[in-house]
Amino acid sequence: MKKIMVVGGGGREHAIIKALKKSAEVGKIYALPGNGGIAADAECVAIGAKDIDKIVDFARREKIDFAVVAPDDPLVLGAVDALQAIGVPCFGPNKNAAIIEGSKVFSKNLMKKYGIPTAAYEVFTKPEDALAYLEKASYPTVIKADGLALGKGVIIAEEREAAVLAVRSIMEDKIFGESGANIVIEEFLEGPEVSVLSFTDGTRVVPMISSMDHKRIYDGDRGPNTGGMGTVAPNPYYTADVAERCMQEIFLPTVRAMKEEGREFRGCLYFGLMLTKNGPRVIEYNCRFGDPETQVVLPLLESDLFTVMQACANGTLKEEDVRFSSGAACCVVLASNGYPSKYETGFEITCDADFDGILYVAGAKTDGERLLTSGGRVLGVTTVRETLCEAVAASYEACEKIHFEGAYCRRDIGARALAALEQ
Ligand code: AMP
Ligand code: GLY
Repeated sequence: MKKIMVVGGGGREHAIIKALKKSAEVGKIYALPGNGGIAADAECVAIGAKDIDKIVDFARREKIDFAVVAPDDPLVLGAVDALQAIGVPCFGPNKNAAIIEGSKVFSKNLMKKYGIPTAAYEVFTKPEDALAYLEKASYPTVIKADGLALGKGVIIAEEREAAVLAVRSIMEDKIFGESGANIVIEEFLEGPEVSVLSFTDGTRVVPMISSMDHKRIYDGDRGPNTGGMGTVAPNPYYTADVAERCMQEIFLPTVRAMKEEGREFRGCLYFGLMLTKNGPRVIEYNCRFGDPETQVVLPLLESDLFTVMQACANGTLKEEDVRFSSGAACCVVLASNGYPSKYETGFEITCDADFDGILYVAGAKTDGERLLTSGGRVLGVTTVRETLCEAVAASYEACEKIHFEGAYCRRDIGARALAALEQ
């Protein structure tokens, strides 16, 4: 039995841990830092996900057999390199490959060099050049901070004034710190969005079941962006034809390009795609599992996650090792009232006895026997059913059984996907 360590402490990590627990090979699981809900499935250790020195010390002390580094920050900071240096095999890319998410300038230049379809763009290192460019740009236009910005580094400007404001606040006022030292300004694309998480061992790439995120806070995709308010899988826009095209035009070329650049990517490579009328385009790459995409993708995985993760780490991934069920899943996020702006925490979470779903805990802490809210996104309520229609209904029914003061959820998770299915 193997001793596993999962770095991270949100709903995504809870989903990874619940999936790993199903493996006959997996013994004890530690979560660094985990959270109050994850504590029911793993031993939580109070070490932050960015505290690489302490993570490495812990792995050495506990003789960890395998590590899963889930969030972007430690991956971009080189947590995998540091763990490998003391002989711990890891699921997750090295620092030189995590740059595919860590720098949008890098990823855009990579796509240009290797002919991978994405929005047309310009890179700016000086605010005056960016501001001059905005004089002749067409609108809406999309402004992206180069580095990590908690998912908030993308601004869609409807007209020049808003674009000027965005450039000034990112490059001059440094609202995203050094992440905004350089920016990308790119063409505004339109079409349905698809998230495709994939397993890759550096050479082979095996896509997982497709999913659809719901990033805005309010129904009808209105209001500010959040970390994600819910997901469904599979994504009905991602047909077999689209999948084949993405494999040939995007997935394989990306994995080959990274290898060619001496930045072999092993782990979960996340393709954020937009299906435009001219074909699929890459909106973003992430060097990790998506949150809350993982909360619908992994419950549909039939294969042993630990075996697949080891194959990615060893360079022995095979397509037939990754199987998904034919069903569908829906995850509805229950958030604190006020999220993504200011919100209060510390409210007790209770669950009725007849709750029928999977509860992934994102932001909660324990207080004796009680579970209290501690974050913006508090819970992900997932159900798996034969059809998407049933899963959506079941997830909302399950949400009714969960209680905490000010609980907020979107009421239309899956509505767009269901409408697409009816067309
Ligand atoms: P990201 O943080 O990179 O996932 O971007 C956030 C959201 O901004 C995406 O999910 C898209 O909805 C939107 N977005 C990013 N780039 C573009 C683009 N070039 N055209 C239109 N929308 C975009
Ligand atoms: N749900 C989007 C992300 O994980 O980046």
